[in-house]
Amino acid sequence: MTLIVEDLVAGYGDARVLHGVRLTVGDGEICAILGPNGAGKTTLLRALSGMVKVRGRIALDGAELAGRPPDALARQGVAHVPEGRGTFMPLTVEENLRLGAYVRRDRASVEEDLERVHTYFPVLRTRLKQAAGSLSGGEQQMLAIGRALMLRPRLLLLDEPSLGLAPLVTRELFRIVQAVNAEERTTVVVVEQNAHLALGIAQQAHVLETGRIVLSGTAERIRADEQVAQSYLGYRV
Ligand SMILES: Nc1ncnc2c1ncn2[C@@H]1O[C@H](COP(=O)(O)OP(=O)(O)OP(=O)(O)O)[C@@H](O)[C@H]1O
Ligand SMILES: [Mg+2]
Repeated sequence: MTLIVEDLVAGYGDARVLHGVRLTVGDGEICAILGPNGAGKTTLLRALSGMVKVRGRIALDGAELAGRPPDALARQGVAHVPEGRGTFMPLTVEENLRLGAYVRRDRASVEEDLERVHTYFPVLRTRLKQAAGSLSGGEQQMLAIGRALMLRPRLLLLDEPSLGLAPLVTRELFRIVQAVNAEERTTVVVVEQNAHLALGIAQQAHVLETGRIVLSGTAERIRADEQVAQSYLGYRV
């Protein structure tokens, strides 16, 4: 799925957060969104999944998505793993995963997809009857991504998947995201504070600052340019 975003404006009430964002993510590509706290990264993902009011253009393989409600976008294959994961803590792992398929009509293949999620995240198979709230942070992030995969997403939006996780767990998580992207050809937009990790799996990257994209390029170029990293990201990548 090719994602084209043009002149995207979004915010909360009268407060405008995004001031005309423009970006393209090629079919099957991973795109990293970097930038400081409060830049509007989460708002951008919310705009892409219909959770905030938007103006401008959001097109997924030519289909216009701007202004459509979240459930309609989910049916178009847009899966959003929110900041803080959004798993339902009192529900079991299996219930959470099945919820991920709620907009799907092809019930028969849901079982197949559960199997597929277990292949990516073997630890979830051993925890199916356990409350999601009893999982470790890393397992909860795996569950959140697994739940998104139950939608058979064509566009997967990940908001700070590494937040609060140990480096080893984070690396494993990113390896799995890369495998999903490679095997399912799912287009991915990942927001990440850990620029080094995100640039390691992305083809393209954009730096967002106060609601505007201030820098775009191949992940390789942005990673290679230390000065850019210092001035825009505020740290070494
Ligand atoms: N629900 C909300 N209502 C009103 N303002 C909000 C809301 N959520 C975010 N904002 C504001 O929008 C701006 C951008 O926030 P956003 O969460 O998109 O940034 P971010 O880049 O994801 O930051 P972080 O790196 O801290 O997650 C901030 O000024 C924030 O205060
Ligand atoms: Mg955020």
